[in-house]
Amino acid sequence: MQVIKNIAELCKLNFSPEQRPLGFVPTMGCLHEGHLSLVRQSREQCQTTVVSIYVNPTQFGAHEDFDNYPRTFARDCELLRQEGVDLVFAPTTQQIYPDGFSTYVIEEKLSTSLCGGFRPAHFRGVTTIVAKLFNLVKPDIAFFGEKDLQQFKVLEKMVLDLNMDITMRACPTVREKDGLAMSSRNNYLTPEQREVAPKLFYTLKQMQQRYHQGEHDAVALVQWGKSQLEETGDLRVQYLEVCSLRDLQPVTQLSNTAGKTFIAAAVYLGETRLIDNLKL
Ligand code: PAJ
Repeated sequence: MQVIKNIAELCKLNFSPEQRPLGFVPTMGCLHEGHLSLVRQSREQCQTTVVSIYVNPTQFGAHEDFDNYPRTFARDCELLRQEGVDLVFAPTTQQIYPDGFSTYVIEEKLSTSLCGGFRPAHFRGVTTIVAKLFNLVKPDIAFFGEKDLQQFKVLEKMVLDLNMDITMRACPTVREKDGLAMSSRNNYLTPEQREVAPKLFYTLKQMQQRYHQGEHDAVALVQWGKSQLEETGDLRVQYLEVCSLRDLQPVTQLSNTAGKTFIAAAVYLGETRLIDNLKL
């Protein structure tokens, strides 16, 4: 497995037609089974697999966890080597955002709701870094997790709008045994918070069940979900919404919408922000 930290070195590699399709999995490191599931999809579908590890400063808000974000580079490389990854690209910020950097990629519709409403410059950072990584790696197929469904939708729209010749694949959310969606940020949780954390997915499942039992009033469903989440007093709801998969805008009623909507939530447990989603 090759590890490249330098843009010039990456650009020297010219992947031959025999090495394609080239699969690409962008990550911020601190890898877990969720990330590795994307790598395995790429290994199955592609001749060559490239993984990037880069904690992208432009997608973190001023008071967010950029400085504390867990960095476990040696361990990550070992895991990726065991998975049979061909190349790890781990650039420095000096290379990615040199002094005077002034061009950003902004998606203006899908990125405004849900997380976008609470993390104003977040998706601008995500679209910018992923566009740059796509230009550098030149993949045929890129793999993302449904755990961050809005991120996937925004990036899919960027690829469409900017005529990028890349196939976008979304892969299912990988969960702990108790349902908690795997996330590098789960590392921040205290043992007590870790016990409460599965309540998020449990509530989404219960909402899904109520929907299947005939609750088609999305507003009532959300109200019920919020009361469940806030019942114990440990979880603070930032948002809980039922949205259309098409435009990520909230819906009010769920008759004849099967397969077209999803529940999305962001909650705080102490200082740690957790997100999850479930399709209806
Ligand atoms: P990161 O949070 O490291 O996630 C990298 C990829 O792994 C994303 O596509 C994410 O959706 C996926 N992923 C994370 N947890 C998952 C889980 N439990 N199950 C399935 N997939 C999961 O997302 C980012 O990094 C960054 O925003 C990035 C796209 C790399 C741009 O900086």
